Amino acid sequence: MKRSFIREILEAIDEETISFAGGLPNSLLFPVDDLKSSANNILKKRDVWQYSLSNGIKSLRKKIAKEYCKEGFETTSDNILITTGSQQALYILARYFEKRSIVLEAPSYLGAINTFKLNNLKMKIALLKTDGIEIKTFEKAFEKAKLAYLIPDFQNPTGTTYSKSKREEVAKIVKKNNGLIIEDSPYSELFFEEKNRSISSLIPNNSFHLGSFSKTLSPSLRIGWIRASKKLIQELLVIKESIDLHSCGLSQHLLNEYLKDDKKYQMHLEILRKFYKEKSEYFCKQLDTYLPEFSYIKPKGGMFVYGEFKGIDSFELLNKCMKKKVVFVPGCEFYLNNKNFYEIRFNFTNSSLDDITKGIKIIAEEIRI
Ligand SMILES: Cc1ncc(COP(=O)(O)O)c(C=O)c1O
Repeated sequence: MKRSFIREILEAIDEETISFAGGLPNSLLFPVDDLKSSANNILKKRDVWQYSLSNGIKSLRKKIAKEYCKEGFETTSDNILITTGSQQALYILARYFEKRSIVLEAPSYLGAINTFKLNNLKMKIALLKTDGIEIKTFEKAFEKAKLAYLIPDFQNPTGTTYSKSKREEVAKIVKKNNGLIIEDSPYSELFFEEKNRSISSLIPNNSFHLGSFSKTLSPSLRIGWIRASKKLIQELLVIKESIDLHSCGLSQHLLNEYLKDDKKYQMHLEILRKFYKEKSEYFCKQLDTYLPEFSYIKPKGGMFVYGEFKGIDSFELLNKCMKKKVVFVPGCEFYLNNKNFYEIRFNFTNSSLDDITKGIKIIAEEIRI
C-alpha cells in the first residue's frame, strides 16, 4: 500500500510554498463567526457531551434528508447514516463490499482507490470522457461487477461533470443489472451555473449517495453522510458501530445548530459558488496567458482544473517546480496503472490571485528552461 501522494506533498511543503496540490477549501470563507456562535449555543448543554446514536443525531439527519426532498428525491432521516467525513463512508462501503469487483472511472479519487485496495476490492476501470464515463466499457464491466464507484459532479481529479444523458444511461444500466452504485458527491453544491440531478435520484434503491460538509463548511468538522435505502443503511450500521460507535457528537450538534437557519447556510453556499467561480475563471485566464500549451477543459464547478502538457513529464516538472516552491499533483497518481505521464491536477480554490499568477509564471519558466 502506498500512502496518499497528495498528503505526502502537503507534509513536505512550507508556508512559502504556493500549493495547487491539495483539495483544500479556502479558509477565508469558513463562516467562523456563525460557527462560533452555534458552538456557544450548544456547548453549555450537557447532552452534547454524551454518547450519541450510531447513525447520527436525528435532527441533523432530518435536515440532510430535507435537502434531498427539496430536489424531489424522497428521503427521510432513516435513509441517512452520518459518517466521519465521506472518507469514512468510503471505508464502510469498502468493508461492506470486501473482495468484490467494482467499476470506477479512470482517473479517480485517490482516497477511494486506496480504501478499495486496502479492502481487497478488485477494481475494473472505464475511461472518463468529457461528458462522463465511457459507456460501452462501463456497461460491459458493470454487467459482471454489478457495483460501481462514480463521481459525476465536478470530479476529483478532473473536474468533469456528467451530462444529463450519461446520467440516465448509467442509471438504466444499473437498474437493468439490478446492481449498485456508490455516487460520491462532495462537490455537487459547488456548481457555477446549475445543480445537476444526481444519478441516485433516478435509482433510489440501487445507490449509495455520499455527501460531505467538508467542501461546503469545514473539513475539520469531519462530517459526511451516506444516503441509501433503509435496509442498506441498517446493514452498514453494523460496520459503522464497529469502527467508532458514532461520529463526533460535538461536530454533529454544532452543525445541527448552524443549519437551524437554512437561509444563512444557503447564503454561505452562494458566496462560495461566486468566489470559486471567479477563482476558477482567473486561474484559467492565467493558464491561457502564460501556459497556452496546457490543454484542459474549463470546470463548471468544484475545485480543480485538469489537463496535460503534451510531451512534458509531469513528475519531472513537479520536481523542478518544488525547488521553486510551487506544487501540483501529477495525473498518474489518480490512475491504477500510474502510466499516465503528462496530465496534471491544479487546485484553484485555495490560493490568492497573486499566488495563482506567481505560481503559474514559475511553472511557465520551468517549462521553458
Ligand atoms: C471525491 C472525494 N470523495 C471523498 C472525499 C473525502 O472528503 P471528506 O472525508 O473530507 O468528507 C474527498 C476529499 O477530497 C473527495 O475529493
